[in-house]
Formats: sequence, C-alpha cells, structure tokens
Amino acid sequence: MEVIVTPTPESAASAAAQAVLSGLPAGAGPVLGLATGSSPLGLYAELAAAAAAGRVDFSAAKGFALDEYVGLPAGHVQSYREVLIREVCEVIGLPMAGLNVPDGSGATQAELEAGAAAYDAAIAAAGGVDVQILGIGANGHVGFNEPGSSLSSRTRLKRLTARTRLDNARFFEHDGDVPTHCITQGLGTVLEARRLVLIATGAAKAAAVAAAVEGPLTASCPGSILQWHADAVVVLDEAAASGLANREYYDDAARGLALAP
Ligand code: F6R
Repeated sequence: MEVIVTPTPESAASAAAQAVLSGLPAGAGPVLGLATGSSPLGLYAELAAAAAAGRVDFSAAKGFALDEYVGLPAGHVQSYREVLIREVCEVIGLPMAGLNVPDGSGATQAELEAGAAAYDAAIAAAGGVDVQILGIGANGHVGFNEPGSSLSSRTRLKRLTARTRLDNARFFEHDGDVPTHCITQGLGTVLEARRLVLIATGAAKAAAVAAAVEGPLTASCPGSILQWHADAVVVLDEAAASGLANREYYDDAARGLALAP
C-alpha cells in the first residue's frame, strides 16, 4: 500500500488524480470504479482538466458506481445514478451509456438481490475495473459496506447504519428522507479492481484513516481491505493523516525506490 500525504485537499485531489491516471491502461475504453460523496469531487475536477488537456480520453470509458440507494424514485436528484451523471459524466466526459449503477428499484428483496448479482456479472463482462476510486466513511465504511461486512462479500442488498444515514442527511431535505437500504459493491468485488485509489481529507476522517491504514485487517473497519490489495494508493491531506503513527516512513517512501539515499 502506498500512502501519500499532501498539504491540502487540493493537492490531495491532484495526487489522487495522478494515481488514477497512471493506473489506467493505454488506449481507449478504461473502466473506472466510481465513488460518490464529497471526497472525490476535486479528483474528478482534476480528471476533467487532464481530459481537457488531452492527457486522457474518457469518451469510450465505462464507469461502475460503488453503490446506490434502494427505493428512491427514478430520476431522484440524490440517487447515485443522477449524482454520477452530474458529478462525473458531465464533468469528465464519460458517456452516460457507459455509466453502470446498481439497480435499487426492485420492489422485493429477491428482485434487488437478482439485480445485485447481475451487477457483479456486468463488471466481469466489462473485463473488471481498472481503477476503483474510493472514499471512506467516518465509521470506516467503503462503498456502503458498513462495519461487520464480510471481507469477501459481493454486490448485495444492505441496511445502512444510523451513522451513515445521519452523515448523508445533508443531501436530503429531511433526515428521515435518507433511504434505509442500499445496494453496494461488496468488499470482495472492490478487491477485484486492478488498482484502488482512496482519497480522504479533513480531520473528521483521521480516525477512520488510521484504523484502515494501520489497524488490523478486520471487518470492523471495512477500509482496512486496502491492506490486502496488491496495488492500493491512499491519498490524504494533512488533517486526514493526523492520526497516522508511521507518517515519517510514508514521506520517506514517497521519495521512490531509487537506490541513492
Ligand atoms: C460513496 C460511498 C461512500 C463514501 C463515504 C465518504 O459512493 O460509497 O463510501 O465514499 O461515505 O463520503 P464523503 O466523501 O462524502 O465523506
């Protein structure tokens, strides 16, 4: 795992974009795993700038969302499909036809579970995710894999924790409007992406980041799965890095593997 600490949220966005770009295969048609939320917004802006400068082309790219709420009406502005259209497709130029989002519209548990299984199959049919962009919840969740999620879980129906519903209430008119359930890529699904790039900024994420990066690999902190992945990059600003014990080594390691001191 590579841990990159940069001074500000802006420099973190730029470093995270670099980690995404360097993980994409040459040629058209990269497959991106897409997180919603506040954390990756600067990163998406950096990807847009790279596309505008001709350094990357997302016009034949595919995107796979990490998760989707269950039960929001089609077209609801806070459904993750709509959020990703606004915050990713229209920003970086990823075609809407290439955007895949778990289907949270099923009326029954069986329908929702069938949609979740189809989603994993769609990721596999696309050849897998090249780079999965991740944020982390204050409780350590990635995607909507709340603490206690199986480390080998697949895309599935989950109930959201009270903490996550409260954290996400800022996007809804009333706290009670936040859906109670979601479909989320599983931790096993996320681990199949060829590269993981997690971005976290702000002091509110410091404890979750420290647990994910330096704590035990445990379902109690889903973000700790990054330790199990062979190509995981964690990009932080100073505030989000403030709980890390091994900071000196991360800064040292960031100087690269050239053998000269
Ligand atoms: C978003 C997602 C979540 C968020 C996490 C952090 O698709 O799956 O895991 O990445 O809740 O959210 P922000 O970035 O808003 O703090």
